[in-house]
Amino acid sequence: MIPISPARNMIVRPMTLEDVPRVREIDVLSFSLPWSERSYRFEVAENPHASCWVAEWVHPDGRTEVVGMMVNWVILDELHIATLAVHPDYRRMGIARRLLAKGLQAGLERGARLAFLEVRRSNLAAQSLYRAFGFELSGVRPRYYKDNFEDALLMTLDPLTPETITVGERESGSFTEQGGEGSIGCAKCAQ
Ligand SMILES: CC(C)(COP(=O)(O)OP(=O)(O)OC[C@H]1O[C@@H](n2cnc3c(N)ncnc32)[C@H](O)[C@@H]1OP(=O)(O)O)[C@@H](O)C(=O)NCCC(=O)NCCS
Repeated sequence: MIPISPARNMIVRPMTLEDVPRVREIDVLSFSLPWSERSYRFEVAENPHASCWVAEWVHPDGRTEVVGMMVNWVILDELHIATLAVHPDYRRMGIARRLLAKGLQAGLERGARLAFLEVRRSNLAAQSLYRAFGFELSGVRPRYYKDNFEDALLMTLDPLTPETITVGERESGSFTEQGGEGSIGCAKCAQ
């Protein structure tokens, strides 16, 4: 059973190799073009530009469960949100907002000064999430997605500042964060 108040029942921490099977499960439930476990392992263990995060739910009996994930690439002063998803049973509880705030904060600390992503034109939920952080439409990639040739909208947050992150996470409650920078941590938003 999912507790009603999420605020004190979730942590955001760096993704580990042990998380990958569960991350892949969430990916398959969330996207028509999921990544392979191998791709995730590469991002976590080998890609020096990647920053990978999970949201972990803490149940009342102390059992924990990964319920959300995010992978970013930070190259020079640009942060590319590669993938972000929350398990369907845990959506609309502020988890993506919290993950995004953490990922952007970590990117800022690594030198990123702008953030961008591609999102399906039909994905209004994700677009709304990103707009809450100040992301704006900056371009269109026609017929970008391989499964149905849907357009991708390019959304950009420029500049990326601590203030923009604060504004975006304002309504997210008081989740706990753990860990520092993702070991190295994926463009599903781009798939
Ligand atoms: C998009 C997604 C990550 C949002 O996760 P979530 O944890 O449910 O989002 P949150 O609860 O943190 O919501 C934050 C904001 O996003 C927007 N939002 C989220 N889901 C929404 C929905 N179904 N309809 C409209 N707006 C939505 C709202 O602005 C929301 O703020 P509010 O609750 O104050 O109204 C989740 O729906 C998901 O995993 N979707 C499939 C994968 C995906 O599309 N990833 C993004 C690829 S670019």
